[in-house]
Amino acid sequence: MRRSRWLVILAVIGMPLAMAPLAMAPLAMAQESEPVELGSKVEVGAKVGTESKVEPASDQDQEQKPPVVTAVKGSPVIDGKVDDFWAKAVGVHVRKQVDDLTVVEKGQMATATVKLLWDETHLYALWVVKDSKLSLDHYEDWQQDSVELFLDRNLKRTVFYQYDDAQYRVNYEGKVSGQGEGYVAEDLQAAASVNDSGYVVEMSILIPGRVMEPGYKMGVEMQVNDHRGGQGRDAITKWNHDEDDSWEDTSNFGIVELK
Ligand code: BGC
Ligand code: CA
Repeated sequence: MRRSRWLVILAVIGMPLAMAPLAMAPLAMAQESEPVELGSKVEVGAKVGTESKVEPASDQDQEQKPPVVTAVKGSPVIDGKVDDFWAKAVGVHVRKQVDDLTVVEKGQMATATVKLLWDETHLYALWVVKDSKLSLDHYEDWQQDSVELFLDRNLKRTVFYQYDDAQYRVNYEGKVSGQGEGYVAEDLQAAASVNDSGYVVEMSILIPGRVMEPGYKMGVEMQVNDHRGGQGRDAITKWNHDEDDSWEDTSNFGIVELK
């Protein structure tokens, strides 16, 4: 709120001007903790696809600034092969360890490089996964060797899933699954192929509402599930947040910006 408006309000309620900063403080804090509005400017790094460069800020500010990945325009063929469209996209690493879910050596964990593309109707993801031991030997999809993309389409960053929030999963054989209020199975198309160092997944996600245009931003997180043949998952790695919470909480997602 502009200062002139505060003066009017304070004058009306008769509060001495000296008390104004004190009175304003709680409100200012409440405003800062509001969820980020769709389309509003989010002060994040300028360079996308790599780790963001941010302006000097306090430790607290830096903690709150989500990383940004740029999606460039292009409509790839979803066949599990890496076609030329992907060359122009910049990759980000999915290699942050989630400590309490890691039962293998750090160097053994499955990791990935992910690139994103977009067009008027879809967001596309290419995953190149390094995984030295492939396994689907578990009845839960999320315990199998698989990749997961989490999307917060309205960028509200809520600590729970809203109608627009979804978890899209694909295993190394290309089987799709997912959860979340915003998950519609038909919206996710995928293909996968196995190679000597792991596997490749291509995802196509339908984005409703004719919102896709340059500058549009959504919340996004990426995760690799690593199963090595034992009881359950042996590790998960993530792009941004180092906790296993993305399936129920969108507040720690990074951001994808369409270019
Ligand atoms: C998480 C699991 C969770 C599952 C639910 C996965 O991304 O890692 O802990 O149970 O999603 O869909
Ligand atoms: Ca949301």
